[in-house]
Amino acid sequence: MHTPLPENRLNTPQAQIWTSILETAPIILTKKIDLTQDIIKIGDATEISPAQKETILSAFKALTPWRKGPYQIFGTLIDSEWQCQLKWNRLAPHLPDLTDKTVLDIGCNSGYFSFRLAGLNAKKVIAIDPTTLYYFQFHLLNRYINTTQIDYLPIGFEDLSPTIPQFDVILNMGILYHHPNPIDCLMICKNKLKKNGLLILETLIISDPAITSLIPKNRYAGMKNITQIPSVPQIMEWLSHCGFSSAEVIGTTITTISEQRSTPWSSPHSLKNVITDTGLTIEGYPQPRRVMIKAWA
Ligand SMILES: C[S@@+](CC[C@H](N)C(=O)[O-])C[C@H]1O[C@@H](n2cnc3c(N)ncnc32)[C@H](O)[C@@H]1O
Repeated sequence: MHTPLPENRLNTPQAQIWTSILETAPIILTKKIDLTQDIIKIGDATEISPAQKETILSAFKALTPWRKGPYQIFGTLIDSEWQCQLKWNRLAPHLPDLTDKTVLDIGCNSGYFSFRLAGLNAKKVIAIDPTTLYYFQFHLLNRYINTTQIDYLPIGFEDLSPTIPQFDVILNMGILYHHPNPIDCLMICKNKLKKNGLLILETLIISDPAITSLIPKNRYAGMKNITQIPSVPQIMEWLSHCGFSSAEVIGTTITTISEQRSTPWSSPHSLKNVITDTGLTIEGYPQPRRVMIKAWA
């Protein structure tokens, strides 16, 4: 069951255009759905006519930029800016058997990780994201994937209602550094996890042992919405403060231009435009490095 966009977000000229794109994309019933491979596959080229192909691809084109993916739709690769299978492959070995588990995917974007969770037969995935474009991207994909395992809510983590039951697993990936109060975000995760539930936390970090947290003066790697980038020990302190019983680092990675790059389906600007030859960001900060942590409530 999906929650519609609230009226004030639906009644904008842009949302009206996207609504009509979504509603007019031809419905093709395909059983050839594969949510278990690096590239999420939806149908194959033999199932649609050239005219249908043109309409479907122009619907996907109208919803650019595709930041998260990749997807293959009736034989055409929707090559997203981020190669999310790389993050997924770092994460998946740490997930429990999901067949009887409920999962919250915070900041699900177009739904790549939620679809992969469905591919692991998660009992139910609640996918949340407050950005209107990503609502339409998810629903365009799900027009063909047609999964009932995922419920998409067009909201931020701050808006999770107390009536939503606690989860077995929460993915909090690429979220913490965008928000003014990361401790509040972790506290919400703790409160929304069942006892012994698992949080997968993935976020930017600073690795200089002399720095607890980097607060960018203005932008970081070209992004203006970065409030602070903590060190791993700082994150561990936050998790403990929020009541997580234990936490463990899965690994750290430097983001490379094989993982994040510009494609015809994204925008021309990407990681390579914000990293200099010295390996620093254009603002002179250390280049993006990320940690993945598992923590138990
Ligand atoms: C950097 S992307 C991360 C996407 C994905 N989770 C990943 O790890 O690749 C951040 C996502 O969080 C969403 N977002 C922004 N504010 C949010 C909030 N308050 N609650 C949940 N998601 C949020 C954005 O719309 C965007 O899709």
